Amino acid sequence: MNQQRVEGQAGQVAVPCVSPAFAQLRDSFQFLRGFVRNPAQVGSIIPSSRQLEQRLVRSARISDARMVVELGPGTGGTTSAFLRAMMPTAQLLAIELDTEFHHRLHASIHDPRFSLELGSAERLDEFLKARWLPAPDAIISGIPFSTMPAGVSDRVASSVARVLRPGGRFVAYQVRAHVSGFMSPYLGTPEKKWEIANVPPVRVFTWTKPEA
Ligand SMILES: C[S@@+](CC[C@H](N)C(=O)[O-])C[C@H]1O[C@@H](n2cnc3c(N)ncnc32)[C@H](O)[C@@H]1O
Repeated sequence: MNQQRVEGQAGQVAVPCVSPAFAQLRDSFQFLRGFVRNPAQVGSIIPSSRQLEQRLVRSARISDARMVVELGPGTGGTTSAFLRAMMPTAQLLAIELDTEFHHRLHASIHDPRFSLELGSAERLDEFLKARWLPAPDAIISGIPFSTMPAGVSDRVASSVARVLRPGGRFVAYQVRAHVSGFMSPYLGTPEKKWEIANVPPVRVFTWTKPEA
């Protein structure tokens, strides 16, 4: 199999020992296993497409951000796309609830800009404070607001609104529109786009926190 050396902007080096196509297949299989373990929590049977990853990078303005937070990184495809787009001095905190996904991410992403927490996105505030991280410029979420208990969804929404830097962006990609009902009381009306080059097609909601 191909051995490929990949260098990122911050000089980090990952040496995958399998071909990209095999790695993608393996991620898809791990993702499907995650869905079978806990369908309501994972909310999708395959990882996000490359086109969706790029739409998220643009919507969240990842390349301008100094502090990025990802809620629900799963097998890490979106996470790697964000790291590729980020400045060398930026930081990314990812929060994952599933222990197997967390274990895989911990073992596979070696980048000095990346930190990872195991737990619920409801604890966003606490995780940022524990690491002395600044207010995020961008928060991106793939967690399924439509299948989570309403109390959890509301606690995630209020945390996001509280910690986001004024002028910062919250981007959520979802099949259904429930996230809007939870988030809009805190951040107002979102910009909405469809990404049809994804299985299934998803809505991408973007909120910008008002300045002051
Ligand atoms: C639809 S998957 C998205 C995975 C990946 N970001 C992608 O786009 O391919 C949703 C992810 O959110 C995680 N998740 C669900 N509820 C969560 C919560 N309350 N806190 C943190 N992660 C959560 C799931 O375990 C899963 O990894």
